[in-house]
Amino acid sequence: MKSTAPRVTHRVAVIGGDGIGPEVIAEALKVVRAGGVELDTTFFDLGGARYLRDGEVLSDDTLAALGEFDAILLGAVGTPGVPPGVIERGLLLKLRFSLDLYINQRPFTGTAPGHTQPHSFVVIRENTEGSYAGEGGVLRKGTVHEVATQGSVNTRFGVERCIRYAFELAAQRERKHVTLVHKTNVLTFAGDLWQRTFDAVATEFPQVGVAYNHVDAACIYFVQDPHRYDVIVTDNLFGDILTDLGGAVSGGIGLASSANLNPARTGPSLFEPVHGSAPDIAGKGVANPLAAILSAALMLDHLGESATADAIRAACNAPVSGSTIAVGDEICRRLQGNR
Ligand code: IPM
Ligand code: MN
Repeated sequence: MKSTAPRVTHRVAVIGGDGIGPEVIAEALKVVRAGGVELDTTFFDLGGARYLRDGEVLSDDTLAALGEFDAILLGAVGTPGVPPGVIERGLLLKLRFSLDLYINQRPFTGTAPGHTQPHSFVVIRENTEGSYAGEGGVLRKGTVHEVATQGSVNTRFGVERCIRYAFELAAQRERKHVTLVHKTNVLTFAGDLWQRTFDAVATEFPQVGVAYNHVDAACIYFVQDPHRYDVIVTDNLFGDILTDLGGAVSGGIGLASSANLNPARTGPSLFEPVHGSAPDIAGKGVANPLAAILSAALMLDHLGESATADAIRAACNAPVSGSTIAVGDEICRRLQGNR
């Protein structure tokens, strides 16, 4: 049934980025529009290629401009020849930290290798603290007495808002279950803060079941028993690593989508596939656009366009193959067939 409500146009900043990023983002935008959602897009040329050309990673002016949009859609960043960290810290993490995108939500649905039944769980990764905060330094670099430290920052405020988000999400889901993943047996300071905060927030949600897994054990369960999970909450680095594994057991990283959320909505949230820029296949037209398309669906959820988001997810459910553009076209065809 067609809606009679006037359509809202959403203002979206698009950072295609490097490698396959622009290719997959073009398909994501095409699919959103085929789903009937109007986007007013502004393209920002940022990433490793831009940095190599004129040195800009993310200026204060560009950051301020990005902050004015309803959402940001990002493809992938990273180019061979740029030293590690320049683009990761200077662009992606700067956006996550400056826009206070404190939740990284990564849903996984699929059938793991060797299993017959599909699983469906979501990882809530803390996105502004932990080892990503950049605490540490180096002394006597390049000498035999070199010292490098890399700390992990865990604040009660940051941990609590992340855990509370995970419980609120679980409370809305059918299974109503949250698993804390950490390494409390070794990281006793940070782990204790996470566990106590988890236990305290859990008392506010008596309807939500709880569990705890050490991160190494969670790696086994992701492969051998992913059905045990509903919502997982974890710190920034564990979440980074676990979500690549989550992709690998859920149909491949080519399907893994993510939402970097500012749930307080004091600014735009950012949506991006979990995969990188894949320079080895860039420009060949063979990159799988489904992760970008599913990330755009997460963006639509956030923008209040859940009906279209659900339709896009449904259209991505049946097998599809072919070139990047052919896959995008096929998803559009399925969507338009259902409108
Ligand atoms: C991710 C990526 C990033 C991260 C990199 C590119 C900084 O691996 O989004 O998972 O580590 O968070
Ligand atoms: Mn990662």
